[in-house]
Amino acid sequence: MAVASESVPRHIAIVMDGNGRWASKRFLPRIAGHKQGVDVLKRTVRTCVLRGVQVLTVFAFSSENWKRPADEVAGLMEILVVALSRELNQLKQDGVHLQFIGSREGLSDRVQQSLLNAERETAENRTLTLNVCFNYGGRWDLVHAARTLAAAGAEITEASLSAELSTASTGDPDLVVRTGGEMRLSNFLLWQAAYSELYFCDVLWPDFDEGALDRAIQAYAGRERRFGMTSEQLPGAGNTAT
Ligand code: IPE
Ligand code: IPE
Ligand code: MG
Repeated sequence: MAVASESVPRHIAIVMDGNGRWASKRFLPRIAGHKQGVDVLKRTVRTCVLRGVQVLTVFAFSSENWKRPADEVAGLMEILVVALSRELNQLKQDGVHLQFIGSREGLSDRVQQSLLNAERETAENRTLTLNVCFNYGGRWDLVHAARTLAAAGAEITEASLSAELSTASTGDPDLVVRTGGEMRLSNFLLWQAAYSELYFCDVLWPDFDEGALDRAIQAYAGRERRFGMTSEQLPGAGNTAT
């Protein structure tokens, strides 16, 4: 292979899928899988800090997840609020900057307050940015950005649209991981993943441990990111052919 990518991705995005199946296999309610998923996210954040990842973007609740049974949706909201109040101090100590990405529409005042509070309390942190996509959809993101530009009468270009997307401050993911065995994006970062390396694994999110994350990072390190060019054109290829 001519050129390996930087060995550790600057920005990893994860579709944390498989919580329900993890719980069902254990004859537990689906919500038990979501609770276990929060613990795994905590550990993943810590491992990302140790590996030098700068941005971690996780899909926690999609625009389409409102279609789930009301008790599961309510449970997910509750888990979010409880996890934030429990983990905020540790996240602050670890230098994690939390950002919630997605529509605030439809979220209760209590949930909105808890998101705002976590964002405010961690705003100065710089070790790792954790983007939690909550009530997020890639189509929502694009429509929201296009509407903002249209309302301002601004020109629509790739750069201006990118700058209005919810992830503008952290840029595009280098690596998109999906756990749980499905090979689809499910409306995650549709624009931003245009040139991301994709990695799918069968591990259910509640079982996603340090080793599983390292395997994803290792797979990434072996990829050649060409961005439309030929191998020979890439920097470090030792070839000036055009
Ligand atoms: C992902 O796990 C978490 C959310 C979508 C909130 P799932 O709940 O989708 O788990 P499976 O795919 O049913 O196993
Ligand atoms: C994607 O998982 C959304 C999150 C992980 C939050 P889903 O389980 O909702 O995706 P589908 O429905 O299988 O495509
Ligand atoms: Mg799922």
